[in-house]
Amino acid sequence: MNVARETGSEARDLTTGRAPFIEEARDRGDLFIDQPYESYSTENQSTWRRLYEGMLPKWKRFAHPHFLEGVECLSLDPSRVPRLEDVNDFLSPLSGFKSKAVSGYVPAYLFFDSLRRREFPTTITIRDGRQLDYLPEPDIFHDLAGHVPMHTDRTFSNVLVRFGEVARTAARQSASISDPQQRLRSIESVVKAMARFFWFTVEFGLMKSPNASSNDYDNPDNLCVIGSGLLSSQGEIEHSILSPDVQRYPLQLEWVVNQYFEIDHYQPLLFVAESFDHLYDEVDRLERWVLEGRLNNVSPGEPLVNEQDLQSFLEAETA
Ligand SMILES: [Fe+2]
Repeated sequence: MNVARETGSEARDLTTGRAPFIEEARDRGDLFIDQPYESYSTENQSTWRRLYEGMLPKWKRFAHPHFLEGVECLSLDPSRVPRLEDVNDFLSPLSGFKSKAVSGYVPAYLFFDSLRRREFPTTITIRDGRQLDYLPEPDIFHDLAGHVPMHTDRTFSNVLVRFGEVARTAARQSASISDPQQRLRSIESVVKAMARFFWFTVEFGLMKSPNASSNDYDNPDNLCVIGSGLLSSQGEIEHSILSPDVQRYPLQLEWVVNQYFEIDHYQPLLFVAESFDHLYDEVDRLERWVLEGRLNNVSPGEPLVNEQDLQSFLEAETA
């Protein structure tokens, strides 16, 4: 009788929330890990294929043309979970970026500082095949198919690096505040502002279409999608552009840094950047605001900045 026995790290399953390899890495305290490719189960591979098949026509219809070029450049295999090293072979010559596998949540400063070094912390587990649409936690489809194609674009990749530089500026700025309570309050507020800005651009941003005839953002023809949360959700990508229930406004820094958001449902409010250069200029402005202290007391509310995030800024090496 042939009985396959799967135990411990040998078990073939890299489904979000039930991946023995990931649990063991976390238990050891390993944040950066390898991608144990043989651990993807047949079901994991099938989930990738179904997600990719479902997204491709929506990308063609709603995604920014540079995203579609990125998908081409990376030669993502529609039928199998990609190997990070293969993706990096295509990606690095284009923008210097690399995907690095992680075991889970990356505290805020470490995350932004990875971007500064052109390294993208990448989740390697994949969602449960019974829940294909948007889920709050990232998975490899969100990270590799939703984020990484945009990293092939030079200007967009420079925007991510600028985010990392802003985080470093924020850590330096806070280190100069002598009162510990005031310092904590300032970090918490600045991290909240950065997380909001990142959310409404890199994760859920819209952009004026290169073929737009005007700035009328009620007209879907003038819009396209650049945010990875939208680019990895079969339902929300279409909803973001077509639904009359979504409010779409030109990107405004003063609004975005004060706007709370919730992660467990489709976004009711989205912002439209003019161009990648516009986005870059706004991240520049974000850094000026850090230096001027304008982000030290932003509006309260989501997202919550947890202890690990605060600690990561307090312990940041900014030399
Ligand atoms: Fe993301």
